[in-house]
Amino acid sequence: MKEVVLSGIRSTGNLHLGNYFGALSKFVRMQNDYDCLFFIADLHALTTHPDPKSLHGNVKDIIAEYLAAGLDPEKATIFVQSDVPEIPELYLLLNMHVGIGELMRTASFKDKARKALGIKSDNDNDDIEKEIIGTDSNKRVNAGLLTYPTLMAVDILIQKAHKVPVGKDQEQHLELTRRFARRFNSFYGVDLFPEPTNFDFGGAPVKVPGLDGSGKMGKSEGNCIYLADEEKVLRKKVMRAVTDEGPQAPNSPMAQPVQNLFTLLELTSTPDVVKHFTDAYADCSIRYGDLKKQLAEDILKITLPIRERYLEIRDNDEYIARVVKQGAERARERAAKTLAEVRDVMGIKRFW
Ligand code: TRP
Repeated sequence: MKEVVLSGIRSTGNLHLGNYFGALSKFVRMQNDYDCLFFIADLHALTTHPDPKSLHGNVKDIIAEYLAAGLDPEKATIFVQSDVPEIPELYLLLNMHVGIGELMRTASFKDKARKALGIKSDNDNDDIEKEIIGTDSNKRVNAGLLTYPTLMAVDILIQKAHKVPVGKDQEQHLELTRRFARRFNSFYGVDLFPEPTNFDFGGAPVKVPGLDGSGKMGKSEGNCIYLADEEKVLRKKVMRAVTDEGPQAPNSPMAQPVQNLFTLLELTSTPDVVKHFTDAYADCSIRYGDLKKQLAEDILKITLPIRERYLEIRDNDEYIARVVKQGAERARERAAKTLAEVRDVMGIKRFW
């Protein structure tokens, strides 16, 4: 039997190059070797983006992007979280074994709670727990945010997934998932949930930098190249990427913004192109304009075909419906089996 691989993405906006290199391109390779499930976490999106006007469209965009990038519904199970009602039911049950203390100590919760309350500081010493308890109902930290890790654990455990490809920022959630699985198994004296591990498919994790010279590419940083970007828009973004005044002496160290452009080039271009510009940097003959033109060209080679397929698929409601219906049926079948086992060991039994 193939090992079960599962990963989810929140439906909070279009996919960018970071999502592509960090996750999607790996999923496309994994689907050949593993029993894969990939889903859109729309219930998780509600914890921060409860916007009925955009939610459904966002879910649709991501499905279309998944498919456009090469996920194959015949190989992998592609589904929408809210199409699987067994998930919220197990979420309720699992929450009985989760401590609010451990949830409150989760780094992502503290971050989001601070944001919700408009607290700037990100040092661990501020008394966020006290702040939360003291808030009135206008400025609140919603309970869904607190129990976010339970819901994520359920996504994973209900499918009995072994491997969960996620970024570093999700490692703590995965650690909690393992803890909840262990706790449940030992409380009831069963061996029901496997303990999932992070899964780096093919080498070191890639950190895709943004175009603003600082850190990682991220939706909330506003430094993204989107898979669905129009050609003109994409070129413009790359040409405007932050650089510096250029190397002043041969073999100078590279400033972070320039290093970032080289990292993007390494991800998208051929080794000889990378070497050409690395050499040009070393001997001070580099022109950043040329580097950026080349970079835009090489990024477009990857994104434009995806964009074209994406636009096509997004217009094909009937196809999307077919894919997610089939995905939901498969995901539900497995989820229902796990849920029945859980109800049984917990002593929830029907009289009829
Ligand atoms: N929390 C994940 C993120 O923000 C998304 C997610 C939800 C997920 N459920 C999951 C990822 C289950 C892996 C497995 O990226």
